[in-house]
Amino acid sequence: MDSPLIELKHVYKSYEQDLTVLEDINLRIGKGEFVFINGPSGAGKTTLLKVILCIERSTKGEVWVDGINLKRLSNSKIPYLRRRMGMVFQDFKLIENLTVFENVALSMEVCGIKKSVIEQRVDQVLKSLGLEIKKRIYPRRLSGGEQQRVAVARAVVNDPLVLLADEPTGNLDAGRAADIMSLFNEISARGTTVIFATHNQELIRSTAKRVIILDQGRIVN
Ligand SMILES: Nc1ncnc2c1ncn2[C@@H]1O[C@H](COP(=O)(O)OP(=O)(O)OP(=O)(O)O)[C@@H](O)[C@H]1O
Ligand SMILES: [Mg+2]
Repeated sequence: MDSPLIELKHVYKSYEQDLTVLEDINLRIGKGEFVFINGPSGAGKTTLLKVILCIERSTKGEVWVDGINLKRLSNSKIPYLRRRMGMVFQDFKLIENLTVFENVALSMEVCGIKKSVIEQRVDQVLKSLGLEIKKRIYPRRLSGGEQQRVAVARAVVNDPLVLLADEPTGNLDAGRAADIMSLFNEISARGTTVIFATHNQELIRSTAKRVIILDQGRIVN
């Protein structure tokens, strides 16, 4: 790998003084690469994604995304970086007073994209996730799996540089989970770097992709 899209050098993260959640993480992920982050509950998977998305700042070490050292990135510049990244949150974080369509369209609106382009693209993504009939519905009227698919739609709609997916198939049946996997494969083939965090062992066993295993905040493989 010549110059990785994402690089972590000796990264440490603690939320409180005495508790180290990430410990000496060294990682290089290339453009368009698709990697899994696996490890038991509490291993630090979500924290690692949040550090890459700059929702959390590392306590020590360097995090580079697309040639930017996040330590040197001022708070006012963070939104610009985030617009190029899609995140599927473990707890979805949908906006309750916006419909399914509006939740997904919002990621494109903040980028100033033309309304007609937004409508076409949002409809296309909702369709690929079997959500077209739910587009005028508010999140509280959706099942857990439907909410999760909306969260995925919102994260992929902009063809992001990086897609960070935190347990994105946790609430889905095997068929829907397979739909998400093929959507992610497609987006990665178009050049998006995909980082998929999960504690699902079965998913990991059946993949040929690179798997990074975290345990108690350390990479163990
Ligand atoms: N905001 C926070 N403040 C304090 N401690 C935190 C915070 N967020 C996470 N932690 C701690 O960091 C550790 C790792 O949490 P994290 O959410 O990264 O794990 P995870 O691997 O994503 O687990 P899961 O598979 O259950 O989602 C946990 O022990 C947790 O208690
Ligand atoms: Mg987690």
